[in-house]
Amino acid sequence: YVIGVDLGTSAVKLLLVNQKGEVAHEVSKEYPLIHEKTGYSEQDPEEWVKQTTAGLAELVSTANVDVDAIEGMSFSGQMHGLVLLDENNEVLRNAILWNDTRTTPQCAEIYEKVGKEKFIGITKNLALEGFTLPKILWVKENEPDLYAQAKTFVLPKDYLRYRITGELQMEYSDAAGTSLLDISAKDWSKEICEILDIDISICPPLVNSHDNVGNITADFAKATGLAGTTDVFAGGADNACGAIGSGILSPGKTFASIGTSGVVLSYEETGDKDYEGKVHYFNHAAPNAYYTMGVTLSAGHSLNWFKSTFAPEEDFATLLQDVGTVPVGSNGLLFTPYLVGERTPHADATIRGSFIGMDSSHKRKHFARAVLEGITFSLNESIDIFRENGKTIDTVYSIGGGAKNEDWLQMQADIFNAKIVKLTSEQGPGMGAAMLAAFGSGWFSTLEECADAFLAEAESYEPIPENAETYAKLFKVYKDVYT
Ligand code: XUL
Repeated sequence: YVIGVDLGTSAVKLLLVNQKGEVAHEVSKEYPLIHEKTGYSEQDPEEWVKQTTAGLAELVSTANVDVDAIEGMSFSGQMHGLVLLDENNEVLRNAILWNDTRTTPQCAEIYEKVGKEKFIGITKNLALEGFTLPKILWVKENEPDLYAQAKTFVLPKDYLRYRITGELQMEYSDAAGTSLLDISAKDWSKEICEILDIDISICPPLVNSHDNVGNITADFAKATGLAGTTDVFAGGADNACGAIGSGILSPGKTFASIGTSGVVLSYEETGDKDYEGKVHYFNHAAPNAYYTMGVTLSAGHSLNWFKSTFAPEEDFATLLQDVGTVPVGSNGLLFTPYLVGERTPHADATIRGSFIGMDSSHKRKHFARAVLEGITFSLNESIDIFRENGKTIDTVYSIGGGAKNEDWLQMQADIFNAKIVKLTSEQGPGMGAAMLAAFGSGWFSTLEECADAFLAEAESYEPIPENAETYAKLFKVYKDVYT
């Protein structure tokens, strides 16, 4: 067996996976978010350790397997969160998370001092509030006494792993989201550190996601019931692990994931393509690979909002049951899902959503279809950028909530103008973490081999040409709404 630990924003999910890739047992433990002020989003790293320890103890005691048969464990982590440590590796303050937006002035400062073009050239991404570097600058400027004590910074799952092994490292796929990594060179950027007066020694040693970084400590073994021989592999960023867990491991492979937010992610062989920061460009957790990624901030969130506002008593299946009877384009009704701003392609925290084109023939089912179409158009903006930059996107793996409704799957095929494939079972980032442990443990000689053994395709959806044609026209209108 191997264990995949998915350290998310609201909970840690633990998967015990056997050699066939089947989930033998599963435990999840929640922890709170701390919002002290508008725009602030923090978490106490001790909670991650406490809940993971309790969760693993529960997993071990209820799984009914021999602990010596658990060969390895690895991690998937919420990205970008800043954990600052002092010289004794004690946590200096609450972690500032990926969804914290207090750092708009620090993002402006980064462009001003480093230069936007140079910054994007090195980090391959825009300076965004969610990323780690502006958070480091915020602490430096607003909590100087505390910053003076900072010896090292790490990311959430790297901190958790440190508490499990006693060794401090960061791996490339998460380091890519700090805005301090030279993505193509796979090394910390001396230049950015120097310009922004950050001592480069706060950047921890870098390792690969599948690297064996030690065994669990005797204390952690005692607290969880795990055997001291369990190998620990570094793990990856949640999006990179989600990609591994859905088989995005070779050129041409792309997924569209619709959860609270929506992600379109596509495999890249090299780290030197130039998307001018229009989409994220990160190191993959698969060896020597990269990926591009676009983010829709309110994907499932838009549908949740619509349901809780207009159909609070119904379940999603009832709300969406008539969507298939509404014509493509919802009879002229169009929705933009900018309920909390938008990431790709606008990087605009202040824009808000809209319904346009309402007329008196529209019923609630038209609004429901328009919401699904608007979310899917937003994801298509990322696909559009990929294609404009020469990528072929003819197949898209659909995962998350968007893969649960057949009308929505067909809509994705029609709007993306690509074949949509659904997997037989889908465990997302936690499975990706387990696959890193399986590969690291030597069960397979490549991650692709592991994906062949662990993952299988279920049904697929081909675009219907006349729908695709209508959507191509409406997509132009959708894009104009932002302007
Ligand atoms: C990626 C991002 C989120 C977090 C969520 O850039 O901010 O997807 O990784 O955990």
